[in-house]
Amino acid sequence: MHPMLNIAVRAARNAGSVIVRAFEQLDKVEVESKGTNDFVTSVDLSAEQAIIDTLRKSYPKHSIISEEAGELKGEDNDYQWIIDPLDGTTNFIKGIPHFSISIALKVKGKLDQAVIYDPIRGELFTASRGKGAQLNGFRIRVKQHKDLSGAIIATGFPFKHKQHTNAYLEMFKTLFTKTSDMRRAGSAALDLAYVAAGRVDGFFEIGLKPWDTAAGELLVIEAGGLVTDFVGGHNHARSGNIVAGSGRLLKEVLKDIRPHLGETLNK
Ligand code: IPD
Ligand code: CA
Ligand code: CA
Repeated sequence: MHPMLNIAVRAARNAGSVIVRAFEQLDKVEVESKGTNDFVTSVDLSAEQAIIDTLRKSYPKHSIISEEAGELKGEDNDYQWIIDPLDGTTNFIKGIPHFSISIALKVKGKLDQAVIYDPIRGELFTASRGKGAQLNGFRIRVKQHKDLSGAIIATGFPFKHKQHTNAYLEMFKTLFTKTSDMRRAGSAALDLAYVAAGRVDGFFEIGLKPWDTAAGELLVIEAGGLVTDFVGGHNHARSGNIVAGSGRLLKEVLKDIRPHLGETLNK
């Protein structure tokens, strides 16, 4: 395993212990609102600290962007860690055991290492640039679904961006009528990891943040899939509008959502 991936795995497992311990005593967790339908808990913050401490111990000069801490510039800007300490906070707060820790490393602006860890199931998804993707050490691959018939597509509802409700529901309707079924599980990082593992055939969501998708993007690519924005371009890290799946399935999804993008989602 690449030494930096090894440290990222250690950081994710440390955060996982913090999160699982707190999940067993949910009534003690403090919840604060930070925006519309957007919450942060004391656990997001302590998991984040555990990750930052672990990374900093080995790589004190690297830069970090983390959901709650923001941008922590280091002396070395060639190495940038992108962290979501708890992806699926709403599930966590409600006691739904489906959430993850997402850690990616960019080297000179390119995704290089990725970890997504589901601490409840003990599932560790990892990828290194050019070296493939793994689940608990075993190689995973994107399902090479040719079309939408028989496919399961994961998605996230735009609950933080309700101005997109109508456009989203139109996209959903078009895809739902053609696919076998859809899934909304509540952790975008795990949705992408599941695409990489071939558990779902594709994924799309509006308005995600870089920490939701950085690790998942490398996982999907290393597992033989593609990740684009809503028009097939590479603006998804900025727009947050993301589609993932096999090349052929992605083409179908893009074709079907195109008529519903309007002027705000066509990027
Ligand atoms: C959220 C989850 C969710 C997705 C949201 C994200 P958070 O992340 O990934 O599945 O639908 O858009 O913001 O806030 O729990 O880290
Ligand atoms: Ca997130
Ligand atoms: Ca989060």
